[in-house]
Amino acid sequence: MHPKILAAQPLVTELKKELRHRCEGLKNRGVTPSMCVVLVGDNPASLTYIKNKQKVCEEIGAHFKLIQMPASIAAQDFLSELNKLNQDPSVHGIIIQLPVSESLKALNIPNLVNPEKDIDGFNGVNTQAIYTGTTNLKLLLPCTPKGIINLLNYYGISLDGKNVVVIGRSLIVGKPLSMMLSNFNATVTLAHSKTKNLKQLTQLADIIISAVGKSEFIGSDFLAHHSSQILIDVGINSFDGKLTGDISKEAQDKSLAFTPVPGGVGPMTVISLIENLITATENQVKG
Ligand SMILES: NC(=O)c1ccc[n+]([C@@H]2O[C@H](COP(=O)([O-])OP(=O)(O)OC[C@H]3O[C@@H](n4cnc5c(N)ncnc54)[C@H](OP(=O)(O)O)[C@@H]3O)[C@@H](O)[C@H]2O)c1
Repeated sequence: MHPKILAAQPLVTELKKELRHRCEGLKNRGVTPSMCVVLVGDNPASLTYIKNKQKVCEEIGAHFKLIQMPASIAAQDFLSELNKLNQDPSVHGIIIQLPVSESLKALNIPNLVNPEKDIDGFNGVNTQAIYTGTTNLKLLLPCTPKGIINLLNYYGISLDGKNVVVIGRSLIVGKPLSMMLSNFNATVTLAHSKTKNLKQLTQLADIIISAVGKSEFIGSDFLAHHSSQILIDVGINSFDGKLTGDISKEAQDKSLAFTPVPGGVGPMTVISLIENLITATENQVKG
């Protein structure tokens, strides 16, 4: 049997329709949802990610603004610009595009954005809900984990009682994702570069989620023989000039289902961000 491809597109199309409708509702009340991306420097990968966000934002009828700052900006000047955005009532969602430049590395970046405008869902005020066990995906939660759980839900893949191995423990993906999966009653192993016998762990998993950032990292030897495992590929890598994930074709072929790259987790992350923008705007309008 061929593995199922867990493409984001059908769900993204549904969500865009819903978000366009919610955006229209806000406009009818005189408010155009507006997001602002703060980019420090001119990292080309960041510029590509930002373009993807802008496209979906404008497709649903919301307003998009990019504020670019020089890589050499002093922390004090950066904070003062950010403060203006935090207080500007015409801006409903703010993203600080990561990574930031060396000059700002000492700042506590996730907590600098006003929690009400924190559409990346990184501020401690918002992440707190994850640690206290929420399963409410309508909250301002980190976009990649939220997108992955929504995609699994859409394809009818239950997490209840499943063994899930998440590889990669970043603050934006692995850490919040592992906790959110646990909130949905999965039994989660959070693996990283110091994990021993990783393949033995993945071979026992029902679902393997790779957020490592290495092309072909997951070979077919990471999988069990029974072809009943689900593979979620978070990785975005460039290999031979092509965009690839972390999961090899051989591993995909041996799975029950997998998310493609491109067309899987990436678009789910972007649509979750725009959903957060609409939710944040609705919350701010309510006061
Ligand atoms: N599709 C999307 O929407 C989306 C969103 C975000 C990120 N990404 C992509 O996802 C990938 C990961 O990014 P990230 O920011 O989450 O993570 P990251 O900060 O790049 O960290 C990589 C993680 O992988 C672990 N790792 C590295 N080598 C390993 C190995 N040999 N065995 C096991 N674990 C290993 C590291 O372990 P240590 O902690 O021990 O160093 C670390 O936790 C990148 O390709 C990124 O571009 C995609």
